[in-house]
Parts: sequence; structure tokens; C-alpha cells
Amino acid sequence: MRNKALLPAVLVSVVALFGASTPASAFDADAAAALAKKSGCMKCHSLTAKKEGPAFKKTAADLKGKADAEKKLFTHLTTKPKVKLEDGSEEEHSTLKTKDDAEIKNVIQWILAQ
Ligand code: HEC
Repeated sequence: MRNKALLPAVLVSVVALFGASTPASAFDADAAAALAKKSGCMKCHSLTAKKEGPAFKKTAADLKGKADAEKKLFTHLTTKPKVKLEDGSEEEHSTLKTKDDAEIKNVIQWILAQ
């Protein structure tokens, strides 16, 4: 039963890795804004106003205090979920133009801080 004993330890390290590598306060707002702009996010989003998608301020307010907020947005930004547009059509949500998880998490921290 070695595996059973190991499992909690593995889970704890995964959670620690995911949570601790990007403390909530340590994000680079300029880099995040630049990557969001470069990725075309601001065509549909603004920090404070609703456009095709919700304002990042609203997303931050909705997810405030939720333990899985970062994970939820990471999934949203990496798995191309279908989203409904104002005209009723559906399309795959776009992703950030980077392959670096740290850059994606930086944008998530920035969004959650609005
Ligand atoms: C074609 C328009 C469009 C583009 C481009 C777009 N989004 Fe969105 N986004 C949406 C819509 C519409 C929703 C609402 C989805 C829903 O509520 O089902 C959304 C939702 C979101 C949410 C909220 C997710 C949640 O679970 O609350 C975030 C954060 C977000 N987008 C970030 C981004 C980022 C970062 C980019 C750039 C990589 C981006 N979006 C590009 C239309 C867009």
C-alpha cells in the first residue's frame, strides 16, 4: 500500500506548487496588460466596462474570495471553452499568445486584482 501513503503528500505538493509560485500580490501589471493586448483580449474585454465579454473588474468581483478563482480562470484561458457572443453565436474563447504558464498566471493575477 505504498501508493496510498504517498498520495496525500503528492497532492499537497501539487497544491503548494500551484498556489505558492504566484503570490497574489506579486504580478507584473504592465506585462499582463501588454500580453492581453497582443493576444486580442481587449477587443472583447475592458478593465471596467462590459464589451463582448465581461469587464475584468466584474470577473474579479465575482471570483473574489473564491479559493479556486485562479484555477477557474486558468482553465478558461487554456481550454478554449465555447462562449456565447452578444449576437447569439458561439465561438471558442481565445487563448493568450504564450506557452509559458507563468505568463498566463500573471495575466490571471492581474485580472483578479481589478
Ligand atoms: C471574441 C470575443 C472575446 C475575446 C477575443 C476574448 N474574450 Fe474573454 N470572454 C468573452 C465572452 C463572451 C466571455 C463570457 C463567457 C461566459 O460567461 O460564458 C468571456 C469571458 C472571459 C473571462 C471570465 C471567465 C469566467 O469564468 O468568469 C475572462 C477572465 C476572460 N474572458 C479573459 C480573456 C482574455 C485574457 C482574453 C485574451 C486571450 C479574452 N478573454 C479574449 C469574449 C472574448
